[in-house]
Amino acid sequence: MKKTALTLIALVAFATSAFAAAQESYEYKGGAMGKVAFPHKAHMKLGCAKCHEGAPKKIEINKAVAHDVLCKKCHIELKKGPQGCKDCHKK
Ligand code: HEC
Ligand code: HEC
Ligand code: HEC
Repeated sequence: MKKTALTLIALVAFATSAFAAAQESYEYKGGAMGKVAFPHKAHMKLGCAKCHEGAPKKIEINKAVAHDVLCKKCHIELKKGPQGCKDCHKK
């Protein structure tokens, strides 16, 4: 019982420290196509490991990662979230 409580406290402390460093949302420049919003908080329910590979790990967003590894790829696979150019890129 005591052990479970301690584990819980440790987990909550870990989660809070991880959340504290994450912004609620991010915005990328997106070049001539226009800027792209990334509502990080709305994605957290998918599970951190979907994007951060286990322990929350720094992600470098660029065109290749955004289109072919994370954002666009996942939205198309799940048929959820913005999938067309102008659904993501806003001027
Ligand atoms: C859909 C993909 C995705 C999911 C799911 C996700 N993140 Fe992130 N996370 C990102 C991206 C992208 C960034 C911003 C990287 C940047 O541009 O600096 C980020 C940033 C962060 C940061 C800020 C520090 C850093 O590494 O840039 C933390 C901390 C973080 N996420 C933790 C979490 C935790 C904890 C969860 C799960 C509850 C989670 N993330 C779920 C994609 C995701
Ligand atoms: C692992 C899958 C996954 C990844 C990776 C991912 N998304 Fe999403 N995204 C989703 C899902 C699922 C939704 C739909 C959420 C819903 O409808 O509740 C969504 C929704 C969105 C929305 C609409 C949110 C809203 O409130 O309508 C935006 C904008 C978005 N994603 C941008 C991005 C960007 C930018 C990236 C990359 C930095 C990204 N997503 C990476 C799965 C993902
Ligand atoms: C799911 C969201 C999403 C969709 C859909 C999407 N993009 Fe992107 N795109 C991004 C993100 C995020 C970046 C990285 C932006 C950055 O690094 O500033 C990016 C980067 C780019 C860049 C490079 C910008 C630069 O100069 O660095 C171009 C060009 C681009 N996208 C065009 C397109 C076109 C054309 C389409 C449609 C065929 C498209 N994008 C669909 C999210 C998306």
